[in-house]
Amino acid sequence: MPRRPPKKPDPNLDLSTHLLRVDGLPSPLEPASLFPAAGPVEIEVGSGKGLFLANASTAAPERNFLGVEIAPGYARLCAARLARQPAANARIAEGDANRLFRCLLPDACLAAVHVYFPDPWWKARHRKRRVLSQAFLPHVGRVLDRGGELHIWTDVEEYFHESIDFARGTGLFEDPRDEQAKPAEHDLDYRTHFERRTRLAGQPVWRAALRRNDRPAGCNREPPADLKTNPLEQTAEKDRG
Ligand SMILES: C[S@@+](CC[C@H](N)C(=O)[O-])C[C@H]1O[C@@H](n2cnc3c(N)ncnc32)[C@H](O)[C@@H]1O
Repeated sequence: MPRRPPKKPDPNLDLSTHLLRVDGLPSPLEPASLFPAAGPVEIEVGSGKGLFLANASTAAPERNFLGVEIAPGYARLCAARLARQPAANARIAEGDANRLFRCLLPDACLAAVHVYFPDPWWKARHRKRRVLSQAFLPHVGRVLDRGGELHIWTDVEEYFHESIDFARGTGLFEDPRDEQAKPAEHDLDYRTHFERRTRLAGQPVWRAALRRNDRPAGCNREPPADLKTNPLEQTAEKDRG
């Protein structure tokens, strides 16, 4: 489904607390240092308009939530949503999740990773842009603490199975567990905007949670220079195929 360009947030809103840039973050990044209060940190990859971050941070004030969003317009929109709410435990970082996970985050620093409705990049020549890749998932396993969970929800069955296979291939996760959606109690009672749109259209969603096992990670942080320039950042707003 094509996406409309994001609305511009109110220019009078101060986004300086909630909007970060992946390229401005230190390496290694201790994610808890981004928040005013201590607590386990969960990261959402591809936050879009930020519904998950807003709902999850309000529901779990004892935890901290960081989103990473490659499209600058959506990152700003998401920051504006977070800036308008009283909860202080959510931030959005504009930039590439590959750089954040592969170059910046230390081992075993996260309690959960959430990936909801990742772009499918249908065209064969664009497949390498899929965020849930064979290169990315070993780092998700590396940065998740023992017992932490990776949540994958998508409306693309083939991408779902491919991601689960790649995750299994890392040897770092237990068998996937099905996750169920609960009935929505109000108009924004969905995991994300894409989940809302898909469910209201009566289309199926594939959902799984994969728990990090006890095995040591099989990869190390990569040098930041490897992922300094990412062509996806120039094309993220268009042509998701
Ligand atoms: C289809 S949208 C889904 C947004 C949201 N998760 C939802 O379910 O409503 C996918 C989002 O992932 C973002 N994205 C794609 N590749 C990314 C990457 N490498 N790093 C961070 N965000 C990415 C896109 O810009 C887009 O906002």
